[in-house]
Amino acid sequence: MFIYLLNELRQNILLYMIYLHSIILHQWKRLANLFRWLFLLTLKFMNIGIPKEIKNHEFRVGLTPAGVHDLNLNGHQIWIESDAGLGSGFTNQMYVNEGARILATAADVYAIADLIVKVKEPLSAEYDLIKNSQIIFTYFHFAASRELTEAMLRTKAICLAYESVELADKSLPLLIPMSEVAGRMAIQVGSYYLGKPQGGKGKMLGGVPGVQPANVLILGGGVVGTQAAKMAAGLGANVTILDTNLSRLRYLDDFMPANVHTQFATSYAIQSHLPHVDLLIGAVLLHGSKTPQLIKKEDLKKMELGTVLVDVAVDQGGCIETCRPTTHENPVYEMDGILHYCVANMPGAVPQTSTLALTQATLPYVQILANLGWKEAIASNDALNKGLTLYDGKLFHPGLAASFNL
Ligand SMILES: NC(=O)c1ccc[n+]([C@@H]2O[C@H](COP(=O)([O-])OP(=O)(O)OC[C@H]3O[C@@H](n4cnc5c(N)ncnc54)[C@H](O)[C@@H]3O)[C@@H](O)[C@H]2O)c1
Repeated sequence: MFIYLLNELRQNILLYMIYLHSIILHQWKRLANLFRWLFLLTLKFMNIGIPKEIKNHEFRVGLTPAGVHDLNLNGHQIWIESDAGLGSGFTNQMYVNEGARILATAADVYAIADLIVKVKEPLSAEYDLIKNSQIIFTYFHFAASRELTEAMLRTKAICLAYESVELADKSLPLLIPMSEVAGRMAIQVGSYYLGKPQGGKGKMLGGVPGVQPANVLILGGGVVGTQAAKMAAGLGANVTILDTNLSRLRYLDDFMPANVHTQFATSYAIQSHLPHVDLLIGAVLLHGSKTPQLIKKEDLKKMELGTVLVDVAVDQGGCIETCRPTTHENPVYEMDGILHYCVANMPGAVPQTSTLALTQATLPYVQILANLGWKEAIASNDALNKGLTLYDGKLFHPGLAASFNL
């Protein structure tokens, strides 16, 4: 009898403890929820719009479902134009699952959104959709188009340009991801065009046991050049990087594998490589200036027939004199027996990779803009502040204003 009572007591105490525990847990959850709502109330909720890109052969999208998920947690509403993510592998349903709402047209998206997140600059069909005081966060490349600059001035929108967001060390965090894609792609396409059926020499980058690997020459050891070197080295090629920045060469020499060599980029050094180069990558950039032409037309004769040139720097004029911009439909042309690949938007060919690479870099800035509103966001974030190019019908970028006389 005594043991029975003792067991009853033990069971009752246990049940009571479980009950107490569940109450504490329940209250704690409610308390945590309350704090979360109090925190969310201090933020400014935003309607964020993601229109479908309409530029020819542009398949990237401004936000992934993962981005929608995170912004949604902060209470923002995301509006996606139907099928905007399809080209990058994201269906409407994937966005809806994370809390986005789908709208039928770009006009609907622009009409409701306080903040538009895009990839490419607005095209003329979009100009009239943009509202006064709407925030537009995208690549603009205003310097390339007076028409676009004037159209955005007319809209009185707040234009924050990806390409102008700049960190304290002068690096451009929203351009780097696309340079990384282009650098790696340069070796993939270069290797393909070295094949005989494509008009190349008919060489494999890595050779095979007993057969020498191909020679890859990279002009410029920045982001593009480094990624290209890593890919080429991984395939077993004999790689040389030329750069005029000695500290960059020191850095590259420290971490690159043994089949990557570095050399100071004098004209003499470049010329000495031409007779035995198989694949040449142009990856030079002079910030704020036109790319120097390091390979002249007469230099083509010094190379073997079927040599492949990939001028990644073509979007800034190119570092090969004979380079002219090509497209993904028709990426190469031959001149003096030398193949030229000069696609100005290389990342466009791999939208799934490019969208992920771009949006992982843009999302933190989108979050700051959405959480704080643009004024507080640029006041609290110097990098984002540099991206503010135009608002209230006025140009905020001194270089741009001077070049367009505006
Ligand atoms: N075609 C495309 O789709 C595409 C995509 C991304 C980037 N890009 C272009 O690729 C180019 C390189 O971009 P990045 O991000 O690597 O730039 P980056 O600034 O990281 O690197 C440029 C490098 O060039 C070096 N350099 C400057 N002058 C030189 C010279 N005379 N000789 C040798 N090296 C020299 C610099 O020291 C630097 O290391 C840019 O023009 C960029 O616009 C094109």
